[in-house]
Amino acid sequence: MEKIEDVLKKDSFNKEDIIRLLSLDQDESKMLYLRSKEIKEKYVGNKVYLRGLIEFSNICAKDCLYCGIRKSNDTYDRYNLQNEDILEAVKFAKEAKYGSVVLQSGELESPAFTERVETLVQQISDAFDPKLGITLSCGEQSEETYRRWKNAGADRYLLRIETSNEELYYRIHPRDPKHSFQNRLAALERLKKLGYQTGTGIMVGLPTQTIEDIADDILFMQKYDMDMCGIGPYIESENTPLAQDFENPMSLDDRFHLALKTISIIRIMMKDVNIAASTALQSIDKVGREKAINVAANIFMPNITPTENRKEYLLYDNKPCIDESASECQSCVIGRIALTGNEVAYDELGTSKHYERRMAKK
Ligand code: 5AD
Ligand code: FES
Repeated sequence: MEKIEDVLKKDSFNKEDIIRLLSLDQDESKMLYLRSKEIKEKYVGNKVYLRGLIEFSNICAKDCLYCGIRKSNDTYDRYNLQNEDILEAVKFAKEAKYGSVVLQSGELESPAFTERVETLVQQISDAFDPKLGITLSCGEQSEETYRRWKNAGADRYLLRIETSNEELYYRIHPRDPKHSFQNRLAALERLKKLGYQTGTGIMVGLPTQTIEDIADDILFMQKYDMDMCGIGPYIESENTPLAQDFENPMSLDDRFHLALKTISIIRIMMKDVNIAASTALQSIDKVGREKAINVAANIFMPNITPTENRKEYLLYDNKPCIDESASECQSCVIGRIALTGNEVAYDELGTSKHYERRMAKK
């Protein structure tokens, strides 16, 4: 069998290589992390870009079996922030010199929702000069909706595939037209076609998910030529059906390490993509996001959602930053990045270098 050192010298990995790397124990993983750190420094440098995350509404029409804000979970009050409050949060991000914001919400598909987000994005575009990067994370939408939001000023979009294994997809989503795997793929295609910087990602450690599945997910992200990747461990959310699915559970610790290995392999294979240090990592390990920055990630998403709404946007249990304010997260994040020895990028858009390269080829 090839030595790990030799596998790591390769420029690209096949499925077998990826499976080998995902199977490394904690000690052996150090070699993988050293390599991905090296690639990170070479291709994206050691700057960490900031995205102020505002969870502007937890109203959701979908019923994903793992998600705390799914439609059928009636333990939360539902909120929908006023545009003026959202603009206030964006103003905070601007003053804190975050280069961009992410507007995330539950998923609704209606003319009213399209218009509401369009107006919001337009107001943010008009209010700030120089412009902030605007990322949306509002689920699957029609081409027309995505186009309107882009014309209003959104330039990036996050839509995780969650898993590229269609069978597993239907284990974690209801099998109905509202939760179609094919529609998710089509939505990703639409976003790319419209010229968005497009991000996807997966959850690691889902019930019955295998190392082979994750290897396929990594190859999927590469094949779809994604600009941004968000990978986090799956964490049970108390009042959801998936939390009752006990088949083949992986320990939280294993999920955490598998997620770190996954982003490291993505860094080595996809080189100049933006990789987020996902918040869910911190639910398992207090310094989980720092560990991600250390090995592969270059994006940090400080939460700027008003504190009173945060406890109603609990996608999973033990979500961090629930009681904090935007300014508490600000100083916390800056301190955390400093601990990694990376540099905080202030007032920089942090456009995915992969996206720039993809667009230049067109
Ligand atoms: N555990 C981890 N991540 C979750 N998400 C939703 N629910 C959970 C959970 N229980 C992630 C999904 C989604 C993103 C916004 O949050 O991957 O795409
Ligand atoms: Fe929010 Fe640390 S980032 S409290």
